[in-house]
Amino acid sequence: MKAIRIYAHGGVDRLRNEDAPDPQITSPKDIIVKLEAAALNHIDIWVRMGATGMKIPMPHILGADGAGVVVEVGNDVKTVGVGDRVCLYSFTGCGECEFCLSDRDFMCIRVRSLGERLDGTYAQYIKVLPENCFSIPSHMTFDEAAAFPLVFVTVWRMLVTNARLQPGDTLLIIGIGGGVASAALQAAKHMGARVIVTSGSDEKLERAKVLGADHGINHRRKNFAEEVKSLTDNRGVDVVLDSVAGEVWQKSLHSLTHGGRLVTCGATAGGEPNDDLNIMISKELKIYGSTLGSREDFRQLLGFLNTSQIHPIIDRKFALSEAREAQQRMEEARQFGKIVLQSSD
Ligand SMILES: NC(=O)c1ccc[n+]([C@@H]2O[C@H](COP(=O)([O-])OP(=O)(O)OC[C@H]3O[C@@H](n4cnc5c(N)ncnc54)[C@H](OP(=O)(O)O)[C@@H]3O)[C@@H](O)[C@H]2O)c1
Ligand SMILES: [Zn+2]
Repeated sequence: MKAIRIYAHGGVDRLRNEDAPDPQITSPKDIIVKLEAAALNHIDIWVRMGATGMKIPMPHILGADGAGVVVEVGNDVKTVGVGDRVCLYSFTGCGECEFCLSDRDFMCIRVRSLGERLDGTYAQYIKVLPENCFSIPSHMTFDEAAAFPLVFVTVWRMLVTNARLQPGDTLLIIGIGGGVASAALQAAKHMGARVIVTSGSDEKLERAKVLGADHGINHRRKNFAEEVKSLTDNRGVDVVLDSVAGEVWQKSLHSLTHGGRLVTCGATAGGEPNDDLNIMISKELKIYGSTLGSREDFRQLLGFLNTSQIHPIIDRKFALSEAREAQQRMEEARQFGKIVLQSSD
């Protein structure tokens, strides 16, 4: 099969478009999926660069998100069959630890995820287990089904499970062009929140408004914490979703109202921001670190997507062979929404 593999960590030039062995069924629970599409996440770039600190077997196929058709199943597979259209939940735990036994195997210290410890989705075929496979929401194409899982389950856990966003809450989302941020906008508008977004690009702010954002602030030109104050009669927002951190973090804290919640899943601009303990104490702020989502979060999310009929935002589609260009686009933050790689025969 064709696959995009790396042999060592580094820049986009490490991505090699080449022939790789087809995955084979080696255990009765194995499933082979013919991938129609994969989607990029920032984690792919961290893995390529070696920034996760995780030792991964080389050569390695990147990619956590994908969707396709089941083409072969092992003898013990009961929940999916050949011909099923599936999207992938990319985590598998050890099945024995306290986290796995309470449906939180994404927290398992021995977790194996697609594109990290396991070969990923930048390929024509992938081997997965029954617990990785879910039916594609019927209103979605393969491209959309590849685009939603990781960012939307992350957003679901951030906004629903952790920060408990309520209808009528005001939510501030930092860096709306990102995959997590744009998914959060779609979900939060559907949940009845008022949403303020920031971006370094006026064009992206315009696109966000078309998708329902109530206000947009260009964070390159304005201090967004001050703008938020004036947009909320000096009150501040109930929830901030900040996956950027770095120099942005303090402004995110200063944008919150009393008892406000800041939820973060990433630190694209730097993982050691300056905190402001005084404001955290005097305003009783709550900070939620949030990572991915459990299989139960994913099940709830699928119900939400089926009911809301939300289509994830696709920025641009590339052929699988163009993975370098696709990752470059993400590294330069030129995207709005998700970047998709399409497989072809
Ligand atoms: N823990 C988890 O489970 C989890 C899951 C998913 C993602 N993440 C992390 O969350 C982060 C976002 O992921 P993603 O896939 O959405 O990434 P992405 O698509 O690459 O989004 C990055 C966006 O952040 C904004 N940005 C980047 N640098 C900025 C800066 N210095 N100041 C302000 N905004 C800046 C940009 O928005 P504009 O273009 O609008 O300015 C950019 O489009 C990554 O760090 C990723 O690793 C963590
Ligand atoms: Zn475990």
